[in-house]
Amino acid sequence: MPRKIAAGNWKMNGLQSTLSELRTLEDKHGDADIAILICPPATLISACEDTPFDIGGQDCHTGEFGAHTGDISAEMLADVGASYVLVGHSERRTDHAETDALIAAKSEAAYDAGLIAVICIGETLEERESGTTLDVIDAQLAGSVPDTADAQTTVIAYEPVWAIGTGKVPTTDQIAEVHGHIRARLSERFDDGAEFSLLYGGSVKGSNAADIFAVANVDGALVGGASLTADAFSPIIAALEEA
Ligand code: 13P
Repeated sequence: MPRKIAAGNWKMNGLQSTLSELRTLEDKHGDADIAILICPPATLISACEDTPFDIGGQDCHTGEFGAHTGDISAEMLADVGASYVLVGHSERRTDHAETDALIAAKSEAAYDAGLIAVICIGETLEERESGTTLDVIDAQLAGSVPDTADAQTTVIAYEPVWAIGTGKVPTTDQIAEVHGHIRARLSERFDDGAEFSLLYGGSVKGSNAADIFAVANVDGALVGGASLTADAFSPIIAALEEA
């Protein structure tokens, strides 16, 4: 069975004072039997070392060390307690022109450092409206997911770009179609394709989480805005525990 994962991506949000939200969440969900993953900004990772939750970086470089001012390696994330790293988030693909090949290389770097790579994929609104969603997903899966991936080292997050931070959510049929397609492609390519955790991301909230988690092949969520406060994230975690 794929592992259930409630993941919070804090993006470029969070100061030391924000960690009080984490403490509140720990009081409520510290002994949950699903995986709870928090991806704070890199500046806060080591301050999370005592948390019972899994901690992840939001990006990593392809190299281990070197002259890359401002970059952080997977090795460095692991060194301060991260066990996951997001790669290929649409904001990185857009803001930093990241390609599928670069994302695959970052995933390999994550594996080398012992991190689980959460590889993010998803179509733009234009691609959705032109009917090419599944082609885009195929190209991103083929290009971003290394041949060395397996279900222990890799999580796939489907995040339609048009649903991120917009309050717009695909219908459950649309999510089912894409997640079913991802599952089929992974199963064709990997012996353990049925075991990969597949997360949905994009405007997940307490009010829609249960419906999303009831969709076949949805094993959890990658949550942005609603992961920033314990009040907003807790009902999402609770919905996944009950799913
Ligand atoms: P929102 O939940 O704010 O739409 O963000 C989703 C996301 O990009 C998580 O990585």
